[in-house]
Amino acid sequence: MEFNEMKDSVLKQILSKQLIQATISQPRAKSNEIKRIKLKPIEIKNMYHIQLEYQYERILKHENIRIEEFSSAWEKLLDDFRQIHVDFIEEKIQIQLSKKNKVMYKTEKNTSLKQVDLSHNRKKNYLLDEHTPYPFLIRLGVQTSEGKVKKQKYDKFKQINRFIEFIDDTLAYLPKDKTVRILDFGSGKSYLTFALYHYLKIEKGLDIRVTGLDLKKEVIEECSQIAKDLDYDDLEFLVGDINDYNDETAVDMVVTLHACDVATDMALARAVKWNASVILSVPCCQHELNRQLDAPGLNIMLKHGLIKERFSALATDSIRAEILNLVGYEAQLVEFIDIENTPKNILIRAYKTGGKPTHEQIEGYEQFKEMLNAQPFLENELKEYLNID
Ligand SMILES: C[S@@+](CC[C@H](N)C(=O)[O-])C[C@H]1O[C@@H](n2cnc3c(N)ncnc32)[C@H](O)[C@@H]1O
Repeated sequence: MEFNEMKDSVLKQILSKQLIQATISQPRAKSNEIKRIKLKPIEIKNMYHIQLEYQYERILKHENIRIEEFSSAWEKLLDDFRQIHVDFIEEKIQIQLSKKNKVMYKTEKNTSLKQVDLSHNRKKNYLLDEHTPYPFLIRLGVQTSEGKVKKQKYDKFKQINRFIEFIDDTLAYLPKDKTVRILDFGSGKSYLTFALYHYLKIEKGLDIRVTGLDLKKEVIEECSQIAKDLDYDDLEFLVGDINDYNDETAVDMVVTLHACDVATDMALARAVKWNASVILSVPCCQHELNRQLDAPGLNIMLKHGLIKERFSALATDSIRAEILNLVGYEAQLVEFIDIENTPKNILIRAYKTGGKPTHEQIEGYEQFKEMLNAQPFLENELKEYLNID
């Protein structure tokens, strides 16, 4: 096989997302400080990247390259190294290049791994270690005083960890030059509020100020006591209704987890008005649209109460995400946690971009709303931000 043919054919498989892993070694120049490079696919913000792990004499460095931009990196790798081992989904390839780029090429069928699990690749380990005692998890009853996760709290532990992964992804969107203001609406027992504080403040050392707000006085008192006992000075808990909470003018991140029905919408509306850079919201019990739905074309589905309820919930979240898109966010609906853990598993994740919606986007939104006879609470709350009838 000719050098250029080999180069193009391997690159083609990488670009078509067949890569499981690759190792590139034997630097052509003795002076090259990089001894070996490992490649693997990873997903960052829902986008496929190739991660390059550069092995130097004593240290490792990482670079994540978007798949669309990988071709030039590939050229450079072959300019600098002579040995390539690649595992693709269907085949394993070994390539040895001579100094003059004569190619020795061996391939065999890959009989082991058939699927690339990007999410697994992205984070193999929990961000909170299962065997390390965390004071907040002990106080919240998730861990025993020895730091063992209690059997009946294992789902909660998984949920907290998953949530921290999402928090970790938001780091790039948070301001670096000021105290990051974070609000958790409907914080309840505040597992996630504590987890968020622990991760951003204690593990990452960020300058943050966090408020958890909930209607339940006793629960809030208990959370306040725990925060005080743990010396979490920049974490406060307040009793109050989201709808009456007007104490802020600017907030950087708004979080809601299972805030009931339109409480989620109130929180989303607040976040938009405060110009929040990040919104993370897992809704719950969406009843609003269920009451409004009138779509004869969908009667085959909607005559079943169960389907109507699920459809309403999915349509409500889609409408919420689209409204956020229309008011300058990049909003996605992503799986919060596997469905066996909790059925309330859709996360609305939105990052502020300030982008303007296209005419087609606005029209698409209006048509969808009309088809369902939906009068979304969130649209009403954000009237002045939306350029629609
Ligand atoms: C299902 S719990 C979730 C609690 C917590 N976020 C968690 O995931 O563990 C929902 C919480 O939202 C609170 N909530 C509902 N409507 C609210 C409102 N309008 N203002 C403040 N809190 C509200 C409830 O009191 C309750 O504690």
